[in-house]
Amino acid sequence: MPRKDLRAAEHFLERAVPGCAALVRPIACLQGRLFPAEEKHICGSASKRQREFIATRTAAREAMRKLGLPPQPVLKGQGGEPLWPAGIVGSLSHTDRVCGCILAPRKRYLSLGLDLEDPRRMEERLFPRILTPEERDTLSILPRPRSLLLATVIFSAKEACIKCFYPVLGTSLRLREMRVRFTGENKFEIMGAKGWRLEGVYLLYGDLVITALALPPRGK
Ligand SMILES: CC(C)(COP(=O)(O)OP(=O)(O)OC[C@H]1O[C@@H](n2cnc3c(N)ncnc32)[C@H](O)[C@@H]1OP(=O)(O)O)[C@@H](O)C(=O)NCCC(=O)NCCS
Repeated sequence: MPRKDLRAAEHFLERAVPGCAALVRPIACLQGRLFPAEEKHICGSASKRQREFIATRTAAREAMRKLGLPPQPVLKGQGGEPLWPAGIVGSLSHTDRVCGCILAPRKRYLSLGLDLEDPRRMEERLFPRILTPEERDTLSILPRPRSLLLATVIFSAKEACIKCFYPVLGTSLRLREMRVRFTGENKFEIMGAKGWRLEGVYLLYGDLVITALALPPRGK
């Protein structure tokens, strides 16, 4: 997918998550330099993993620049989560070819979640692991390419939600304990077993499914 086409995805995210800076670019276009402290995270990793990690860090730096911030390292926590510098929150994601980042001032959001998926990788055999019985019932009446596409959006929404909540809870939500409902054009609602509910957005963009959501600051 040409780089200029992905700008529309960035604009979509920046409109959907007000105040955020969004980056969606091919991994090949995001091969900048790492800070020495970041290098330890990919020391000895396969070259594909190294390129992905360099891409997420380069995307984060580009998003920092969009927010008017100097480049800063983004280390990795024990759960794989990005450790954002003071004053910002964000989320990173990639497929085999494309990488994304959303970033915003911490005073604006408690946490952000972003996920990119390639719907061509979705398979029906994964449904029992990623969908609730109600979600499977809903998809079962749809023809095959559409059911796989919507399953990808639901899976991506849950992955974005896991990434959004992890830094706040310090633990990972479970895919089958969350339920996704489509609520309008490019919008979904995601509900947890404990009664919480959050709104998010999705975009179907060529060979890419993009989902994002944001947790408001505490007390709002
Ligand atoms: C945490 C999880 C959602 C990340 O999924 P993923 O497929 O690795 O995510 P992506 O490839 O889109 O993005 C990777 C980025 O997510 C971020 N990430 C990884 N773990 C994270 C966490 N616990 N919290 C927040 N962000 C996290 C990282 O920044 C990572 O990039 P980096 O390693 O270069 O820093 C996933 O590992 C998970 O636990 N999923 C639930 C179980 C599951 O999906 N099972 C598969 C069923 S088929």
